[in-house]
Amino acid sequence: MRLFIYLLGGLAMATAFKPVKKNIQVPATLKASIERGKTVYVQRCMACHQADGGGVPRMNPPLDRATAVVANDKAKLIRIVIKGMTDRVEIDGEMYDNNMSANPDLTDTQIADVLNYVRNNWSNKAKAVVTAAEVKAVRAKLK
Ligand code: HEC
Repeated sequence: MRLFIYLLGGLAMATAFKPVKKNIQVPATLKASIERGKTVYVQRCMACHQADGGGVPRMNPPLDRATAVVANDKAKLIRIVIKGMTDRVEIDGEMYDNNMSANPDLTDTQIADVLNYVRNNWSNKAKAVVTAAEVKAVRAKLK
């Protein structure tokens, strides 16, 4: 009897803690890109922008909750990743002293992946997907 109650309890717990089904639809291809992008982020971006995307005050801007990061100007973001950034401009009302390194050696797919990751991670939810074709087009104009 006691065993039966334990089993029943376990069943009730299992039902209670079933993960809530998300109603946000993420296409399989975007999901795969975001997953690959995390690897690029850890290797190339995390040291400055931090694991939580919060950046470092007055040095490196946050990517989480950043206006430009989720905005629709994808070409601007692609240019920043390829060329780096030494602009010293105000970002969401703050100035940052560090220089961002350039990443011209990353492939078109890696750049699309890392941008899809930062645009759809933490609290960021960008509407448009970044594609390798877009990166290729922006890169061609940079030379
Ligand atoms: C060496 C530190 C460093 C690394 C590594 C780095 N960044 Fe940055 N990033 C910065 C700094 C500093 C700025 C702001 C520069 C300025 O104000 O001129 C910046 C700016 C940005 C911006 C513009 C933010 C905005 O809101 O306008 C984006 C997007 C960005 N970085 C993405 C990335 C991605 C993606 C990577 C990895 C591929 C990366 N960064 C790697 C330091 C870094």
